[in-house]
Amino acid sequence: MPITVLLGAQWGDEGKGRITDALAADADIVARFNGGDNAGHTITIGSSVFKLHLLPAGIFRERCLNIIGNGVVLNPINFLKERDEILAAGFPVTPDNLQISEAAHVILPGHIALDAAREATRGGIGTTQRGIGFAYSDKAARIGLRAGLMREPERFAEDVYAHTERVNRVLEREYERPPLDARAAAAEYAAAARQVAPYLANTARTLHRALAEGKRVLAEGAQAVMLDIDHGTYPFVTSSNATVGGVLTGLGVPAQAVTRVVGMAKAFCTRVGAGPFVTELGGELALRLRGTGANPWDEYGATTGRPRRVGWFDAVALRYAVQTNGLTELALTKLDILTGLDPLRICVAYSYRGECLEDFPQDGEVLAQCRPVYEELPGWREDVTAARSFSDLPAEARAYIARIEALAQVRVTMASVGPERMQLVTR
Ligand code: GDP
Ligand code: IMO
Ligand code: MG
Repeated sequence: MPITVLLGAQWGDEGKGRITDALAADADIVARFNGGDNAGHTITIGSSVFKLHLLPAGIFRERCLNIIGNGVVLNPINFLKERDEILAAGFPVTPDNLQISEAAHVILPGHIALDAAREATRGGIGTTQRGIGFAYSDKAARIGLRAGLMREPERFAEDVYAHTERVNRVLEREYERPPLDARAAAAEYAAAARQVAPYLANTARTLHRALAEGKRVLAEGAQAVMLDIDHGTYPFVTSSNATVGGVLTGLGVPAQAVTRVVGMAKAFCTRVGAGPFVTELGGELALRLRGTGANPWDEYGATTGRPRRVGWFDAVALRYAVQTNGLTELALTKLDILTGLDPLRICVAYSYRGECLEDFPQDGEVLAQCRPVYEELPGWREDVTAARSFSDLPAEARAYIARIEALAQVRVTMASVGPERMQLVTR
């Protein structure tokens, strides 16, 4: 009863969508366990580029059942938009290939308004403004609405109305913002509920049965270790567990079922939103790594379009990701972007007030003062985008991968050399 987990090992946007899509070819079920439509997972199939926010990346595989687990927070309006886009592209999204947990919490208009209001204050951290933090707050405070309530649109509408009225008082008093139209919100959500209801299911039961039958389950993480509410760079984090524990709570599956934990890293680092970023680069090098936005893979957020901050590869952070999650292997993406850069740099330790730190610090104030200690490696000039096996890669690229493996104590089993499905090297 094997579960393969795929998690972001950096700050998000490592290429989880494209690797999930690749691994989904051999999976029976692909399940999202955390986050919501703050995620943006890009899958490139030929000349088509899809950006998924809520749908699991198994949606393009004919024989996959896709699950949106109880650990996810669901915006029903954005879910239906995304469903319609994928349907229009010719892929089925029906209750036969998609189930939504009735225990998932619903993101309401008030959550989104509060997220926007908070972000406009000095307390903002650069969220995606999808209402994620406020939806999880209500869940923890036990006043959230669960997706199962969408089976009764009238009652659901009453609760959406009451929630919106409650939020309106906060919006007006605390943030001096105009109130939301609670009646319109209730009507809009009730209409969406009627369309979402057929997808609702007891997804934990579905998973238990599938595991008992020996089916192969792939758990698709959103966000990443450094954005994890407990283990990330708090408070510059998201509001769910993006680390391996989130799989157990976010799907309701037993720990022993997890047999493989694949970490995802880019061949360099990016971060979108505020917070410490030890290897961050500025100037020409940053522009070179980020790209101008002319290519679909350039470093601009898949959800918000914001330019991503970029930096050299951080092996201290990766080691922490390996330890926190027990990563059994690593997939490394965007190797092609490093082509032509010479020398390459990898951060092997942090320098903090003259002290050399080899472990990632939990204290955000320490982290904010850390400076990178770099090791230089020779770059390569050869185009790698046509590589299909590790031996096709230039010796310098193989040495770069080997150094990451040695520093983080994890084996790189997949490397990508372009965004398209075929541009993947496995070993
Ligand atoms: P996710 O959130 O982890 O799924 O990653 P995103 O989709 O937000 O960001 C990854 C970006 O890199 C997307 O635009 C992908 O199409 C692109 N990408 C993934 N792997 C590669 C690769 O090997 N080379 C290039 N050039 N782009 C890649
Ligand atoms: P994927 O799954 C990168 C970041 C936001 C912000 C912080 C909190 O595509 O890797 P939130 O809206 O969650 O309250 O924002 O987390 N963030 C992401 N950054 N990739 C993501 O998802 C992210 N989801 C949230 O930029 O800094
Ligand atoms: Mg993304």
